[in-house]
Amino acid sequence: MRLPSAAALVMLVRAEGWGGLRRFQAPPGWVRVPLMRRSSGSAQPVVAAKEPFAVELQAGRTYAWCSCGHSKRQPFCDGAHKTAAPGLAPLRFTPEEDARVWLCGCKRTRTPPYCDGTHKGEAVQGAPLPPRL
Ligand code: FES
Repeated sequence: MRLPSAAALVMLVRAEGWGGLRRFQAPPGWVRVPLMRRSSGSAQPVVAAKEPFAVELQAGRTYAWCSCGHSKRQPFCDGAHKTAAPGLAPLRFTPEEDARVWLCGCKRTRTPPYCDGTHKGEAVQGAPLPPRL
């Protein structure tokens, strides 16, 4: 399945602010895929960063957004979920257009892989960050 273009989401945010993005109706199965693919285990994503990452995406290239928060290559997957959070998996996506976007760093967004402003809440701002080497 192809995702809506990142550029379209950026235009929506510019036109209507973050509230507009919250009202965005994503195709079925798109926005919640990585968080619903948890196993019956207790793996939960950790807050990797308390703000989003500005990223230049290339059209047609497939990216793997880290959904567990343990990757050291944020916001992208480095395979850390296999040992640190079994049951969580990266969200693979292929943008249709070149675009500069904000990818979620807190792993609490409701519109993965894109930031929806959730990081501004106390649940994220008060959360500990995982140790980094
Ligand atoms: S960084 Fe903004 S919602 Fe996660």
